[in-house]
Amino acid sequence: MSKITAAITAVGGYVPDFVLTNKALETMVETNDEWITTRTGIKERRILKEDGKGTSFLAIKAAEDLIQKKGLDPKEIDLVIVCTATPDMKAAATAAYTATQIGAVNAFSYDLEAACSSFLFGMSTASAYIESGRYKKILLIGADKNSSFINYKDRATCIIFGDGAGAVLFEPNEEGLGLQDELLKSNGEGRDFLQATYGGSSYPINENTYKEGKHYIFQDGKTVFKNAVFNMADVSERIMQRNQLTNDDIAWLVAHQANKRIIDATANRINLEDEKVMMNIQRYGNTTSATLPLLLYDYESQLKKGDKIIFAAFGGGFTWGSIYLKWAYNS
Ligand SMILES: CC(C)(COP(=O)(O)OP(=O)(O)OC[C@H]1O[C@@H](n2cnc3c(N)ncnc32)[C@H](O)[C@@H]1OP(=O)(O)O)[C@@H](O)C(=O)NCCC(=O)NCCS
Repeated sequence: MSKITAAITAVGGYVPDFVLTNKALETMVETNDEWITTRTGIKERRILKEDGKGTSFLAIKAAEDLIQKKGLDPKEIDLVIVCTATPDMKAAATAAYTATQIGAVNAFSYDLEAACSSFLFGMSTASAYIESGRYKKILLIGADKNSSFINYKDRATCIIFGDGAGAVLFEPNEEGLGLQDELLKSNGEGRDFLQATYGGSSYPINENTYKEGKHYIFQDGKTVFKNAVFNMADVSERIMQRNQLTNDDIAWLVAHQANKRIIDATANRINLEDEKVMMNIQRYGNTTSATLPLLLYDYESQLKKGDKIIFAAFGGGFTWGSIYLKWAYNS
């Protein structure tokens, strides 16, 4: 009997309509289009503006897109995982609300949080359930409403982040396609450099802490940048080496979209030409848990069955890693 592997069999995505351009940011903080473009590669990002709509709104839209494209009966879904760093609210799982709203009434559901590595780590979790034979249809969603914790007076962060969601379906495969290998890492010494300090259990928000504005995301960009460049490139190179892969074998690099220079550095380390590097940071900025599935969403029509893909991500915590996956279908 052939071993069961966990393959992605469908993709969906959603970004809000409102476009926040570099030009518009010039009127909000001291910055300019040329600086943002050359330092990050970002030209615009999408923002969910409507009051009362949170991350679940984005997640539901991406899931509905996938369900409709695949012709999937949501009642067949066993598990819904929402990867997010910006849940709708504390305590109540965003995934539970999302699952109910999309009609996945037979699924259980939970949130998974590892900052910008959330979706990558979620791929590992979903695959392990499939490989074990325990579940057959897992909807893995990456969704973040980053605008909910951005200070639009802080030019170090407001130029980078955007809102969006992507979704993939994981199912068993008997042709050996899907997830092949993973190299996942974390190091808590990194948490001082990228965090929203107040609003968690260590420092709950009260009148005084609110005034300090530390419920917004803060980052020491230079330190995060250096660590992201080193670690994303390192794990990508190592996972290729231990699977005897050369740059010629790889069809695509699917890397977390935080800064174009970080993605370029990773691609350079594994000698991958630009045409094989998925890129949409110019349109969406950093959508945290949504970057990887939104890349698959944008490039789905170019993917071919058997394509060897390297995924890579780096995020707060610090958390990072790489996954090697074989694509399972032609669109
Ligand atoms: C944030 C980031 C784009 C800043 O780029 P950088 O090249 O490191 O820039 P620096 O922070 O060194 O700042 C360089 C200069 O530009 C200025 N600057 C910073 N932000 C600016 C902005 N938005 N517009 C114009 N100037 C800006 C700085 O004040 C500094 O000026 P100085 O030289 O007079 O002191 C970059 O560090 C980065 O991308 N970091 C990683 C971000 C990330 O990946 N975060 C998510 C985690 S996955």
